[in-house]
Amino acid sequence: MLKPTVAAAAAAVVVVVLQAEGFKEQGNAFYSQKDYSEAFNYYTRAIDASPRTASYYGNRAATLMMLRRFREALEDSQQAVRLDDCFMKGHLREGKCHLLLGNAMAASRSFQKVLELEPANREAQQENKTAETLLEFERMADFGFEKRDFRKVVFCMDRALAVASACHRFKILKAECLALLGRYPEAQSVASDILRMDSTNADALYVRGLCLYYEDCIDKAVQFFVQALRMAPDHEKARLACRNAKALKAKKDEGNQAFKNNNYDAAYQLYTEALTIDPNNIKTNAKLYCNRATAGAKLKKLNEAIDDCTNAIKLDDTYIKAYLRRAQCYMNTEQYEEAVRDYEKVYQTEKTSDHKHLLKTAQLELKKSKRKDYYKVLGIGKNATEDEIKKAYRKRALMHHPGSHPDRHSAATPEVQKEEEKKFKEVGEAFTVLSDPKKKVRYDNGHDLDDDGCCDGRDFDANNIFRAFFGGHGGGYSFDSSPGVFFFSSFDILNLIETRYY
Ligand SMILES: *[C@@H]1O[C@H](CO)[C@@H](O)[C@H](O)[C@H]1NC(C)=O
Ligand SMILES: *[C@@H]1O[C@H](CO)[C@@H](O)[C@H](O)[C@H]1NC(C)=O
Repeated sequence: MLKPTVAAAAAAVVVVVLQAEGFKEQGNAFYSQKDYSEAFNYYTRAIDASPRTASYYGNRAATLMMLRRFREALEDSQQAVRLDDCFMKGHLREGKCHLLLGNAMAASRSFQKVLELEPANREAQQENKTAETLLEFERMADFGFEKRDFRKVVFCMDRALAVASACHRFKILKAECLALLGRYPEAQSVASDILRMDSTNADALYVRGLCLYYEDCIDKAVQFFVQALRMAPDHEKARLACRNAKALKAKKDEGNQAFKNNNYDAAYQLYTEALTIDPNNIKTNAKLYCNRATAGAKLKKLNEAIDDCTNAIKLDDTYIKAYLRRAQCYMNTEQYEEAVRDYEKVYQTEKTSDHKHLLKTAQLELKKSKRKDYYKVLGIGKNATEDEIKKAYRKRALMHHPGSHPDRHSAATPEVQKEEEKKFKEVGEAFTVLSDPKKKVRYDNGHDLDDDGCCDGRDFDANNIFRAFFGGHGGGYSFDSSPGVFFFSSFDILNLIETRYY
């Protein structure tokens, strides 16, 4: 009774083995035609028919590698060597999958196994060296990250990814460093690539959030951090970033609200606190510096405001608002060259008529600042009244008049005398312009700079002005007609200064 059954069973096994071999042959045919999905289907049927044949898994692993499904390829090659520990190609394939997935240690173990089976295997020797190199780049990258040398990490990860092209871990580390280097579009594209393949990858979610956070899209960033923490509740980096993002947003909003309420002291303080939260967040911090500069300018802290704008520009040298704010502060502190430089930068970047006007105004102020300042010559403010201008002239003209201090002047060296003469001339020139309403307006507007001539001093005869001013007021002083020679006693001068002549 038994015998026929055994025979039948044996026959059935032969049929199945033949069938499995048939599937494998078909798989091989598709594989050599590079039709890997069909090859995969036939190898799968071969495995279903004969699940304990190592070479079927080996072949399907090779196919899966061509389909770039490396994780599944790894599982198949592991199954192959589990069934047959002497299956050399299986070990080699497992090693290659480990390499592609970025697991250098495991790869090395597989290649060692091949070399135990066949010490002269060139491919295993070569691949083992590649695994060693990969380990070395990983070590360098870890060291670089510790030292915050993110460029080095990116370099090492690029080298590592040339070998381990399917390694998410390396891609994420590279993306994180790109984000820390401010290369957000690149970082974002790497993170998005991974999320397309694996939407629950907490690291990729974290890096995507980090890019948004660094680009000052804080609300959206928080959503990604929260998602990352949902996928991996222990994700320390995501937790920290989430906390920073929320704190930064809260302080910044508070500061902006205080500013809107015209509470500049409070705004200044809140921006200062916000700036301590995360020194890595360049874009938000640039805005915070610029906002603090605006509050500072309102508080008349112009030098601090200039420093804040400079810090904002250091963080983001394309930040037009910071250049504009700084230029305004330079104008208000009469640092016109600096103002012109900033407005030039602004106008070069954004050629609007407003920017052009600002630049022109600054350029005019700069020119005006370089010409003789008649107000300073007379020692008066820009708002001085007609009366004040006259008083100032009287005082200064007498002070520097060649005849005014006979004692001092006779004892003075020729250099001092010359200096006094020059000042006397300047005082006359200043008075001529500022006492004439038309000339004064032209001077104040800088129109005297448009055409040459008017104010270069040659048109002035200081003595004529002096004579016109003091003469005919019945003071009893007679002036010698020869220019520059006057006779005053010290007493007369005192009188002259004390008395109102106009
Ligand atoms: C293979 O690489 C490992 C390190 O990855 C090394 O320790 C071992 O000596 C290498 N083996 C051969 C045969 O080169
Ligand atoms: C000068 O007058 C203008 C307007 O008349 C005023 O805004 C400005 O504050 C005054 N400056 C000084 C220094 O008094």
